Amino acid sequence: MHPMLNIAVRAARNAGKVISRAYENLDGVDTQTKGLNDYVSEVDLLAEKAIIETILKSFPDHSIVAEESGLTQGKDADHQWIIDPLDGTTNFIKGIPHFCVSIALQIKGKIEHGVVYDPIRNELFSASRGKGAQLNGYRLRTTKAKDLQGTILATGFPFKAKHYTETYLNMFGALFQECGDMRRSGSAALDLAYVAAGRHDGFWELGLKPWDFAAGDVIAREAGAIISDFNGGLNYERSGNLICANPKVLKAMLSNIRPHLTESIIKA
Ligand code: IPD
Ligand code: CA
Ligand code: CA
Ligand code: CA
Repeated sequence: MHPMLNIAVRAARNAGKVISRAYENLDGVDTQTKGLNDYVSEVDLLAEKAIIETILKSFPDHSIVAEESGLTQGKDADHQWIIDPLDGTTNFIKGIPHFCVSIALQIKGKIEHGVVYDPIRNELFSASRGKGAQLNGYRLRTTKAKDLQGTILATGFPFKAKHYTETYLNMFGALFQECGDMRRSGSAALDLAYVAAGRHDGFWELGLKPWDFAAGDVIAREAGAIISDFNGGLNYERSGNLICANPKVLKAMLSNIRPHLTESIIKA
């Protein structure tokens, strides 16, 4: 394992310990509201601290972008860690056992390493660019589906951007007509990791942030998936509007979604 991926794994496991310990006594967890339907608990903050400490101990000059503390610019701007300490905060707060830690390392603008760790199931998804993706050491591959028939597609609802409801539901309807069924798990990072593992045939969501998808991006690609925006391009890195699936399923998803795109989504 690459030494930098190794540190990402150590950081994810440290945060996982903080999260699973707190999960045993959710009544004692303090939670604040950040915005519409948007929450942060003290556990998000503690997990983030544990991750940043672990990384900076080994790489004190690296830069860090983390959901709850923003950008910490180090001397070394070429190495940037992108961290979601707890992806699936709403699940966590509600006692739904489906959430994870997501850590990626971007070097000179390219995601090189990624870890998505589910502390409840002790499932560690990881990848380094060009070296394949693993779940607890076993090689991952996407499904081999050739079209949408019988597929399970995961999605996230635009609960923080309800002005997208109508457009979103039009897209949902078009895909739902063609696929087998849909899932809404509440953790985008796990949704991407599950595409890599062949548990989901595809995933799509609007308005994600870099820390939601950075680690899942390299893990899914290394398992044979493609990620694109709704036009088939790479603008998702900025807009957070993304689709992830094997190339054939992605093409089928795009052709069903395309007729429902609005100006504001195309320009996002
Ligand atoms: C959220 C989860 C959720 C997705 C949201 C994200 P958070 O991340 O990934 O599945 O629908 O868009 O913001 O806030 O729980 O880290
Ligand atoms: Ca959040
Ligand atoms: Ca997240
Ligand atoms: Ca989070």
